[in-house]
Amino acid sequence: MSGFTKYDSRADLFKGLADVVEAQLRAALTQNGRATLAVPGGTTPAPFFEHLRHADLDWANVTVLLTDERFVPETSDRSNTRLLRENLLQDRASKAVLVPLYQPADTPEDVLTNLQSGVSAVLPLDVCVLGMGADMHTASIFPEADLLAEALADDAPVVLPMRAPNAPEPRLTLTAPVLRGAGNVHILIAGAEKQAAFDQAWAAKTFMEAPIKIVQEQAQTHYAD
Ligand code: 6PG
Repeated sequence: MSGFTKYDSRADLFKGLADVVEAQLRAALTQNGRATLAVPGGTTPAPFFEHLRHADLDWANVTVLLTDERFVPETSDRSNTRLLRENLLQDRASKAVLVPLYQPADTPEDVLTNLQSGVSAVLPLDVCVLGMGADMHTASIFPEADLLAEALADDAPVVLPMRAPNAPEPRLTLTAPVLRGAGNVHILIAGAEKQAAFDQAWAAKTFMEAPIKIVQEQAQTHYAD
């Protein structure tokens, strides 16, 4: 499934996306007895999580991971893991299994091998929901990131550390082959600035200048003003 859905309101957007993701997780659970869901952090997805956590699913067999994480402890209000614990892994979804994209250490490189093996064990993703920045980054694949080319490569490791001018702290990110390899990919964006960036990405010539482009054709995009 791909395409662009414009919802009448942000309330409809978050509920609409949650309904679609719930149905796709249910289908994966029915087919395989388990399902893997990747979700973004940042400021947009909390209301989507609040809907999804009430879904009547066999959550004990659902693995949840972030598309990317800031290299900060869970005590930080910039922690995407904290956002997930507080907004998604609650109510029915409290039974889901979280695969971490952060471990306390001095640098992301110190914990990379561990995080990579945790993620590798639960691939491919059944459902991947991605955010996008106004600079057309997705996950933590930023246009000017240090390991941009490595993260876009077909043979990229599943997780890479990332440092970029637009990111205040080091990141850990799922890489392009993992995002593209998901059974279902969704992009969640809200507001005119994001819509303009999304259109700009269609026109961009390379993935390097517009990393969201790596999934733009295959994704279902969900938008409200
Ligand atoms: C993060 C994200 C990131 C996010 C976009 C959009 O940690 O920041 O996972 O990729 O999805 O930057 O962020 P907003 O929703 O805050 O605009």
